[in-house]
Amino acid sequence: EQNEFVASEIQRLTLKQKAGQMTQVAVDLVFEGQTYVLTVPPVFSEEKLNHVIGEQEIGSILNVPSRSIPTPAEYREYIGKIQEKAMATTGVPVIYGQDAVHGANYVKGSTLYAQPLGVAASFNTELATELARITAYELKAASIPWNFSPAMDVGRHPAWPRTWESFGEDTYVNQQFGLAMLHGYQGDGISGKDNVVACLKHFTGYGAPASGRDRTPAYLPERQLREHYLPQFQAAIDSGAITIMINSGEINGVPVHTSKELLTDILRNEMGFEGLLVSDWQDVRYLYERHKVASNLKEAVRMAIGAGMDMSMTAVTTEFPDVVVELVQEGELSESRIDTSVARILAVKVALGLYEKNVWDPEEFPDFGGERFARKALQSAEEAIVLLKNDGLPLPIAADQRILVVGPTADNMRSLNGGWTYSWQGQEADRYLEDFHTIREAIQRQFPGRVTYASGASFDTLQDVTTAVSLARESDIIVLCVGELSYTEDPGNINSLVLPLAQRTLFDELHQVGKPIVLVMAAGRPRLMTGLANRSKAVLFAPYPGPRGGEAIASILSGRINPSGRLPLTYPRHTNALVQYDHKPTEARNGTYNPLFEFGYGLSYTDFVYSDLSVSSRVMNPNDTMEISVRVTNEGQRAGKHSVLLYTSDLVASVTPSVKRLRKFTKIHLEPGENQIVTFNLMPRDISFVGRDNRAITEPGTFRISIGELTAEFDYEPE
Ligand code: IFM
Repeated sequence: EQNEFVASEIQRLTLKQKAGQMTQVAVDLVFEGQTYVLTVPPVFSEEKLNHVIGEQEIGSILNVPSRSIPTPAEYREYIGKIQEKAMATTGVPVIYGQDAVHGANYVKGSTLYAQPLGVAASFNTELATELARITAYELKAASIPWNFSPAMDVGRHPAWPRTWESFGEDTYVNQQFGLAMLHGYQGDGISGKDNVVACLKHFTGYGAPASGRDRTPAYLPERQLREHYLPQFQAAIDSGAITIMINSGEINGVPVHTSKELLTDILRNEMGFEGLLVSDWQDVRYLYERHKVASNLKEAVRMAIGAGMDMSMTAVTTEFPDVVVELVQEGELSESRIDTSVARILAVKVALGLYEKNVWDPEEFPDFGGERFARKALQSAEEAIVLLKNDGLPLPIAADQRILVVGPTADNMRSLNGGWTYSWQGQEADRYLEDFHTIREAIQRQFPGRVTYASGASFDTLQDVTTAVSLARESDIIVLCVGELSYTEDPGNINSLVLPLAQRTLFDELHQVGKPIVLVMAAGRPRLMTGLANRSKAVLFAPYPGPRGGEAIASILSGRINPSGRLPLTYPRHTNALVQYDHKPTEARNGTYNPLFEFGYGLSYTDFVYSDLSVSSRVMNPNDTMEISVRVTNEGQRAGKHSVLLYTSDLVASVTPSVKRLRKFTKIHLEPGENQIVTFNLMPRDISFVGRDNRAITEPGTFRISIGELTAEFDYEPE
């Protein structure tokens, strides 16, 4: 029935209208003023609406009017006008999309939580689903049905400025959290009132630029591509993902937007994706402006559509649809190819139910911005923070200690929230998050009367170190907050992962005072801190835990919360040894793999002890499901949450095996003295790898299972 409706729509629409359906433009185009320098508050323009929707007949809109954060009621009003115009012009509703990557971050009053890297650090996929559900609900409260999330880019280069937007370096973790969020966004069906349609991004290989800089070339042999950059997308497609955004970068010299091999042969024909494939920002234009594979827009449009793109996300012009029409009229593109894309786009609109209802009244969403959601956001922050060191147990901080809070990330919200927080670069966080607490404020609230503060340095310049040092002398313990501000994409590129000199100098000056230092690394990627961490008594990594991150950090310092985060990436020790945990055996030789902290590392205030590792059989056959169980006992004095991580190692393989791969994980809660048996099911496909012929294979041989220090071996026997 749905197909028939879509087919009849395609019959009804003119070529120009169909080209309009394939176009997405920034919402700034329907507001007064110069694009991206709009008047504050932005004023909706009937005249521009008439041009964009009435004349150009554009089918999709993204973003937020720049320099403003509308309330759900304000969205309702202007999206209502857009939809009314669209229905009156083409009869097809507009699909409106946004980057709500850690909550509905462009909607005033919404619930913001930890960024994806922090969510991954929780190793709590149930929490991820609940968070995504909140986002979907709050987006719908603002009449926004399409979310450009989850990013399932495996962040394989730690300097990459979107590392924090990924779920870290591991493909399986990206897959599990991507699926968890996909389910949260889409619920039991995207037509549900509280659900939105997710957009997986960025297909694929975006997180692997050789230089570590955004949108610079990646070189991925087919085996690597299939091992690390396709499985998570396949799993999400199989679980109902129907929109995907294309990677802006190039792989092996081919911009992905022009890669028929990736976008059609692999994604559609092999992986079975039938949904909507949208470009990233201006990426068709960039094919000639940046990548230099096309000499003009027309060539670029032909290449991208030829490769398999359905919708072009463009910035400031509506030139794309005109070129599509020209290309069809000139015989360069067939109208049936256009129809195929339009059918995919309309199918998403139909599935969302937008033809029947395309704006929602905020009153239909009474839980928006409420206490129940806030508690989940706080939980996300608490579980995102990773305790990396606690030597001589300076933490929790004893009740009578005088504390100096110091450092460039101590007193701003940007270092807690990261990018895509009220603005692309997140620089508006302090202004919009006044009601939340920075690390300094939160520590002052939890340790009243015992805290002094000095900034000591901005991100890259020393500032009144003398005051910081003299306050340190009068304190018992120093909480030094270093790290990064907020950023994303190109503006977040760095030349070195090393922490800026000013922050290292501040550390040196404070260290000379001789008081114990608790180092808080608030950052979106593992900025190198080897010398600092070695000389600190305790170290916390706070990967953009969100607006409640200050409170969560203070609660961990005070002991109100027992930390349970674990690293979703390898924390490097040296600039020139950026090796992931699942490296090859030769990388484990001669100290090449010698990280400061391993993937999966994270301490607690209690002691979790593993025992009784057992496997249901020492032999696995092709149709077997092996049961692996381990007893976890809380032998400490405190209740706590704990993630159990199961790795396997393929001892000998036809392609050099990774030394180990994470295959399963789960998170449990144990009271002091309590124990629990955790059971995992392992199947042959869980221990497969991409073989010499670039196909997944599970080879006969011996495999080692490891959970913590415990190991067990089994043989895989095909027949
Ligand atoms: O969704 C984003 C993408 O991740 C980066 N470029 C812009 C898109 C839309 O804002």
